[in-house]
Amino acid sequence: MTKITFVRPGGEREIVNAEPGHSVMATAVDNGIDEIVAECGGCLACATCHVYVDEADLDRLPPPSAAEDAMLEATAAPRTPCSRLSCQLKTTPELGDLTVHLPSEQY
Ligand code: FES
Repeated sequence: MTKITFVRPGGEREIVNAEPGHSVMATAVDNGIDEIVAECGGCLACATCHVYVDEADLDRLPPPSAAEDAMLEATAAPRTPCSRLSCQLKTTPELGDLTVHLPSEQY
């Protein structure tokens, strides 16, 4: 099963199992990762599911869609080259384990 490591702003790491096909956002919400707000429920309308994908994992992900790219301009924490919206990141066995860093704010 795919494991997702969430790294909190203070450095604390939480490793959770992800159901295949579930988004990183849904995995976070299901596991009580409070830093992921996900106000719109994954409709690509809020940017409160912002994460920083670990640089080691970045190249394995498909690039953001135009809609995700546009919504990434609305994140509360600064956007970086590692910024993604976790509702758009689907976990699959092919993708493998993933590490994401949580921003200090979503509003
Ligand atoms: S949950 Fe709203 S954009 Fe991802």
